[in-house]
Amino acid sequence: MTDKMPGFDTLAIHAGAQPDPATGARATPIYQTTAYVFEDVKHAADLFALRTFGNIYTRIMNPTQAVLESKVAALEGGTAALAVGSGHAAQMIVFHALMQPGDEFVAVRQLYGGSINQFAHSFKSFGWHVVWADADNLASIEKALSPKTKAIFIESIANPGGLITDIAAIARIAQKAGVPLIVDNTLATPFLCKPFDHGANIIVHSLTKFMGGHGNSMGGAIVDGGTFDWTRSGRYPLLTEPNESYHGLKLHETFGNIAFAIACRVLGLRDLGPAIAPLNSFLILTGMETLSLRMRKHCDNTLAVAKWLNTHPQVSWVNYAGLEGHKHHALAKKYCPKGAGAVFTFGLKGGYDAGVKAVSSTRLLSHLANIGDTRSLIIHPASTTHSQLSPEQLKQAGAGPDVVRLSVGIEDVEDIIADIDQAIS
Ligand SMILES: Cc1ncc(COP(=O)(O)O)c(C=O)c1O
Repeated sequence: MTDKMPGFDTLAIHAGAQPDPATGARATPIYQTTAYVFEDVKHAADLFALRTFGNIYTRIMNPTQAVLESKVAALEGGTAALAVGSGHAAQMIVFHALMQPGDEFVAVRQLYGGSINQFAHSFKSFGWHVVWADADNLASIEKALSPKTKAIFIESIANPGGLITDIAAIARIAQKAGVPLIVDNTLATPFLCKPFDHGANIIVHSLTKFMGGHGNSMGGAIVDGGTFDWTRSGRYPLLTEPNESYHGLKLHETFGNIAFAIACRVLGLRDLGPAIAPLNSFLILTGMETLSLRMRKHCDNTLAVAKWLNTHPQVSWVNYAGLEGHKHHALAKKYCPKGAGAVFTFGLKGGYDAGVKAVSSTRLLSHLANIGDTRSLIIHPASTTHSQLSPEQLKQAGAGPDVVRLSVGIEDVEDIIADIDQAIS
């Protein structure tokens, strides 16, 4: 390579990877091992005291995982990344590094339903309290802040509705409040949206979706933007105070602009334990090499499907920010100029029964609870993922009886359209 910063596709293929020094293998090997032999006693002691970097045990790090981490960090433009077992594990570890019992964080309601559950119910048992706000109402975010707030959490493109969040405006609120902005960039991927360019401090991913892209492996990632000043407010003791489990080491003082990623690895991942399997790191790495090709086709297909649905007699509305006239179309142009992603919802005039019939009648599209596969996927939230909610809650969640969610794949678009047509007509 030359001194010029490589382009996105070059990074997607090469960042973090090199021929295996032991064997010359060109593809990154799957290092299917739990532990690594120390050179001698001093080497072992230095590794355990964080005086030197190196492999100890696969719960904390692994060479295949390390290539994945470098690639994700390079594509997002962060200082360092940590890969973990799932997107939800990434969120748990991020908040573990930021929160003490009794602390609060602000999250917007326009989020993946699983994250709403994780924040509202499971995090409560750790003593971490979520305060909800509305991504479309900046005043509601400011109002939700308190002296106990440790972070603001948003999705760049929100699941399930494909809504676009005004990252820069919310980053300004976070900066004024002296708290980091965490952006879940799962639906956009760094190919469509670069949250660090708009003021985000931490990015999380479910690598299970478009990053891996083939619906075959679970994974999550945390990316450190390296920009947040952890020392300013004295509110992040895990990063700034002497750490008892590392002989009084102060993580921020020692590791500077990668301190957050280090804290997530050597405290969160070490103690909570949701490591990614080496095989899954390998599969996600392989998927990421074609990220831009896939995302371009996903977005082209999705726009064509959304435009076609918009004219269909059985369809009452289409909620895709890539369509002109959508309330977030201008935000989509600003934050995702290459395309508004591949996940969106639409409404069927026949309501609940029509939704059930549609998902029962597709032949090419798979009826299942996932997104971001090469294959096109469909779900009717009111009869599945959201079936326990009341009619009022369904409406609030954007999952009313008539709502169908699509994750448009990269098959021939004519075949996708023909299948949806026969299912809803
Ligand atoms: C936007 C978003 N974030 C996080 C997650 C959780 O990821 P995982 O299923 O890998 O735990 C999902 C899962 O669908 C998601 O859509």
